[in-house]
Amino acid sequence: MNSKKTFLNSLLGRMSIEDKVGQLNLLAGDMDVTGVKNSNDLEGKILTGQCGALLNVYTPHTTRALQEIALQSPLQIPLIFGYDVIHGHRTIFPIPLGLSCSWNLELIEESARIAAAEASADGLHWVYSPMVDVSWDARWGRVAEGAGEDPWLGSKIAVSMVRGYQGNNLADPGSVMACVKHFALYGAPLGGRDYHTVDMSRRAMEETYFPPYRAAIGAGARTVMTAFNEIDGVPASGNRWLLTNLLREEWGFTGWIVTDYAAVSEMKNHGTAGTDADAAKQAFHAGVDMDMVSELFLIELPELGKSGAVSENLIDHAVMRILESKWDLGLFDDPFARCHEEHAKQVFMNPRHRKIARQASRESMVLLKNENGLLPLKRRGVIAMIGPLADSRRDMLGCWAAAGDESMAASPLDGLHEAVGDDAVILHARGSDVLISNNNLLDEAIKVAESADVIILVLGENWQMNGEAASRANIRLPKCQRKLAKAMLKLGKPCVLVTMSGRPLELSWEERKFTTMLHAWAPGTEGGRALADVIFGAFAPIGKLTMGFPRCVGQLPMSYREKNTGRPFDQNTAYSSKYLDVPNDALFPFGHGLTYATFAYGPVTASAKEMSAGGSITISAVITNLSDHSASETLQLYLRDLVASVTRPLKELRGFKRITLEAGESRVVSFRITTADLTFPGPDFTPISEPGDFEAMIGPSSANLIAVRFSLM
Ligand code: BGC
Repeated sequence: MNSKKTFLNSLLGRMSIEDKVGQLNLLAGDMDVTGVKNSNDLEGKILTGQCGALLNVYTPHTTRALQEIALQSPLQIPLIFGYDVIHGHRTIFPIPLGLSCSWNLELIEESARIAAAEASADGLHWVYSPMVDVSWDARWGRVAEGAGEDPWLGSKIAVSMVRGYQGNNLADPGSVMACVKHFALYGAPLGGRDYHTVDMSRRAMEETYFPPYRAAIGAGARTVMTAFNEIDGVPASGNRWLLTNLLREEWGFTGWIVTDYAAVSEMKNHGTAGTDADAAKQAFHAGVDMDMVSELFLIELPELGKSGAVSENLIDHAVMRILESKWDLGLFDDPFARCHEEHAKQVFMNPRHRKIARQASRESMVLLKNENGLLPLKRRGVIAMIGPLADSRRDMLGCWAAAGDESMAASPLDGLHEAVGDDAVILHARGSDVLISNNNLLDEAIKVAESADVIILVLGENWQMNGEAASRANIRLPKCQRKLAKAMLKLGKPCVLVTMSGRPLELSWEERKFTTMLHAWAPGTEGGRALADVIFGAFAPIGKLTMGFPRCVGQLPMSYREKNTGRPFDQNTAYSSKYLDVPNDALFPFGHGLTYATFAYGPVTASAKEMSAGGSITISAVITNLSDHSASETLQLYLRDLVASVTRPLKELRGFKRITLEAGESRVVSFRITTADLTFPGPDFTPISEPGDFEAMIGPSSANLIAVRFSLM
C-alpha cells in the first residue's frame, strides 16, 4: 500500500498540468463504432501523453502495439483499454434483458466472469457494464441491455455482475473493472425515445431508479458512466448534485466517473454550455473524472486550471483516481500482462464457456403460452422451420455483441438440425424479410409448410431493431411478419410461435391466434442449440419475464409496481383509473413464465400475526407439482404496505426461490422477512419502516398471487 502511495505521489509530482489532463482523456479506436465520431491521431496523442485510456480497441496484438507507444511517452504511463462487453465478449450470452429472465444470480455472475476472462485475454481492462437502468418503457431500445422493470431484482443482478467482472483482485488475469451505467435515470426518456428528456420526481428516483446503481456501487464497482439525459434541467454529465452531492458524498462512491460518448461536448446541444470551455468546466466541476471522446478536458482544462477557473487540486484528485486503478490493475508491474496470443486462444470460446452460454440461453427463454401442451415437440415426422430469423446467426448475438463472431453462432435452424439428426425431416423457408414483404418468399414458405406436420415459426426483431438509438413507437411484429404468421395459421397445422427481440413486444394479436408461444430474446452464440433443447424438452423452460409485455403500446410506461391511486381500477366503475379500450394489466406480466408442468400453490401462511420492529417473520407457501415428472419453478414473494406516510406500490418483489419437485411432490417453501424488506424512502427520502399492516403474496408471477396479512409492531 505504502509503495503504491509513494509511487503514485512521486509520479503525480512529476506531471505537468498537460500530463495530468492527458490521463483524463479517453479516446476511441475504430475496431467498433459506438458513437458519432472516432478520435484521430491516436498514436500521436498516446506518444505525447495526451491519452489515458482507449475504447473500441482490443486483441492482444493491437493493445500491445499501442501500449508500447504509451511506454515511449515522456512519463511512460500505461493505457487502460475499455470496451462495451455487455453480454459476453467472444462467447456471447443472451442479451442482458434475456439473461435476467433466468432469475439465476449465480449463472449471471458466472456469465460476467467468463466475459471478464475473455475480455481480459483480449487486452482489455475495463468493461462498460453493468447497464443497470431500470425501464418501464419497452419503446426504449436500450431495455435490451438492462435487467428489466424491477429495482429490487435489478439490484441483485447488478451486484452479481460487478462481482463477476471484478472478482477479488483487479490484477487477476480474469478480472476487469466494471462501469455502472448510465448514471442516472437514462431508462426513463419521455415517450421511450432514446436520448430524450427525463423529467422525474425525487420519489420515483429513490424508489425505482436509484436502487440498482446504489447496489452496484455498494458491490465495489470501480467506475460509473454518466447518462446522456438531463436531470431536473441539468445534463447528467454536468450535474454536480448528481455526481458529487449524491454519488460521492451521500453514497460514498470512491471510484472514478467517465462521461458517456461525447457527453461533455453535448452539453452545448443541451444548452447549458455556450462554449467548449464552459462545457469542460461544467462537467469537471460536477465531478466527472474522464472525458469520453469529446477531448474537451484535454483542450480546455489546462487553461482553466492555470487561470484558477478550475482547481488544480481537483485535477490531481481525478488523476490520482485513474492512476490508482492502473496500479490496481497491475499495469505498472506488467503493462503487457493481457497481451498474449496463446493465452487468448485458450480462453476464447472454450468449451466450458460455450456450455455455460448454452445453459444461460436455455434459462433465459420464456414460455409465454402452451395452451394445448404442443411443446415439447417430438423429434419425428416433418418439421418446418419458417421465418426471417430462423436461419440468422447474426441475430442470435443481438445488439452490443462485442467481439462475438456470428460464424461461430448456432441459428435456430442449426440447433434444430443438430437436435433432430435423422429422426425427423426438417424443412426450412424464410417466408419474409424482417422488415419487407416478399411474395416469392411467402409463396415458397406456404408450399414448404404445407407438407409439414408441425411448423416452428421464428419471428421478431433483428439485432438492429433494439439497443442504442433504436427506439420504436410501434412494438408489434413488422407487418410483413404478421402477414407470414397469418399465412401459416391458415394452414391449420400445429404451430409454435418463437419470438426473438430485445424488448417486450406487443403480441396481443399473436396471443389471440397462437396456442403456443416461446420468447427467445437474442439468445447468444449457443442460442440455436438452447432453443432446440427447449423445444424438444431436453431442457424444460424456467425463464420468468423481468419486464411485462404490454397489451398495447399506449399502456407504456407500465410496471407491475404501480400504485393504487385514489380511484383504483374497477372495470365497472366509470370514474376509476383505467382505459376504455384495454385492461390496465400486462398481456404477459412481470414474473410470468410457464414450464412443461403444472403447479398448485397454497395455502400461504405467516409464522405469526405480528412482527416486532427489528424482528422477522416467515411467510410460507405450499407448492405441489401436479405433473407426472420432476419439474422446476421459480416462486416469487411480493409485499405491500397497506397504509404508510407516503403511497406505496400495490406489490413489490422481495424474494424468489427456484425449487425442483418430483412428480406429485408437495413442499413448503418459506421466505424470511425482516424489517429491511419493509423499509422504504420516507417523506424526506430517508429510509424508514413504519408500523402497520402488510400483505405478503406468493405465486408464480406478479399477477397470480396468494396473499396473507401480518402487522409490523
Ligand atoms: C453508449 C454507452 C457506451 C458508449 C461507449 C455510448 O453511445 O451510450 O453505453 O458504453 O457509447 O461505446
